[in-house]
Amino acid sequence: SLGEYEHYMLKEIYEQPESIRNAMRGRLDDQDATAVFGGLNLTPQQLRSVERIILTGCGTSWHSALVGEYLIEELARIPVSVEYASELRYRNPPIENNTLVFGITQSGETADTLAALRETKRKGHRTLAICNVVASSIAQAADGGVYLHAGPEIGVASTKAYTSQCCVLAMLALYFGRTRHMSYEAGQGFIEELRRLPAAVQQALTCDQQVRDVAKKYCDATTVLYLGRQYNFPTALEGALKLKEISYIHAEGYPAAEMKHGPIALVDKQTPSVFIVPRGTTHDKVMANMEEVKARGGPIIAVASHDDPHIDAIADDVIRVPQVPGFLQPIVTVVPLQLLSYHIALLRGCDVDKPRNLAKSVTVE
Ligand code: M6R
Repeated sequence: SLGEYEHYMLKEIYEQPESIRNAMRGRLDDQDATAVFGGLNLTPQQLRSVERIILTGCGTSWHSALVGEYLIEELARIPVSVEYASELRYRNPPIENNTLVFGITQSGETADTLAALRETKRKGHRTLAICNVVASSIAQAADGGVYLHAGPEIGVASTKAYTSQCCVLAMLALYFGRTRHMSYEAGQGFIEELRRLPAAVQQALTCDQQVRDVAKKYCDATTVLYLGRQYNFPTALEGALKLKEISYIHAEGYPAAEMKHGPIALVDKQTPSVFIVPRGTTHDKVMANMEEVKARGGPIIAVASHDDPHIDAIADDVIRVPQVPGFLQPIVTVVPLQLLSYHIALLRGCDVDKPRNLAKSVTVE
């Protein structure tokens, strides 16, 4: 039931500290400084022989696959490709031996994801599901998998399933990393950071009032740009998708540095840009991208770290989030963007839980 909340989407956004905790429950192994998964059904030999990973899904689940690519490549040094399930199915790419294919899906019923997994399984590859709905078609079709344990997600816009997917992918990166060259200490450090996540997300939720003010200011925009780099490039795509699907405002997500290769032509006084710019390796570069937008008169909304001293001088509006390591940032920085799309959609009188033209699970191709 909705309880104190007006919509399922809002309830599910607020459930995230708990849903992330549930995704981690029983899966962090302090003894061996690794993660444990009951249902992967892989022998240690099979695990070690993995030479490539394909992550596939649709929509928001495809965005979490992009986060997974950064995570697994950085922490486990296994090459990863991310594929739209609808394309993977018919593109017929050559897939090397010892490739592991993960289908990522909240519902477990998305027709394209199911078909892509079936097709790769038919060719003899090992397929696994990262899925929320227990005993769903995709969970059953795969050779094994990991459940999100996020609880039912009713709002059409995926929120808590996304952060749980990112969290499971982070734990998988730890798991694969620890079977290869990640040290015991590094594994321990990673586990500590994961344990801090629910509190960081809880703190990120306190930006709600500030986000409401930003929503009021920009709810009449016709185009919004979302820009971020590295781990926050998928966040930019996800922020843009959230805004599109529930408020019907045109939005685009880009790696921030791609701006000058075309999209910057869209910038004018009426076109706000949302920069996802927490402290980290590309922070200064993204600040430079922000200056370029500002110089062309574009309003700037920044999602930034609590202790960033320079951001107020450039951005028109700043939404502060707690600082976490780069590889966990997407789980924290997406929270204000979920809230922003929610409040803008409300102000525009949209049906946030049941946006037009969309279904919760897309069971047709
Ligand atoms: O159930 P799935 O995760 O397989 O669904 C995939 C997409 O249809 C889904 O993420 C869609 O993009 C959401 N409406 C996004 O909020």
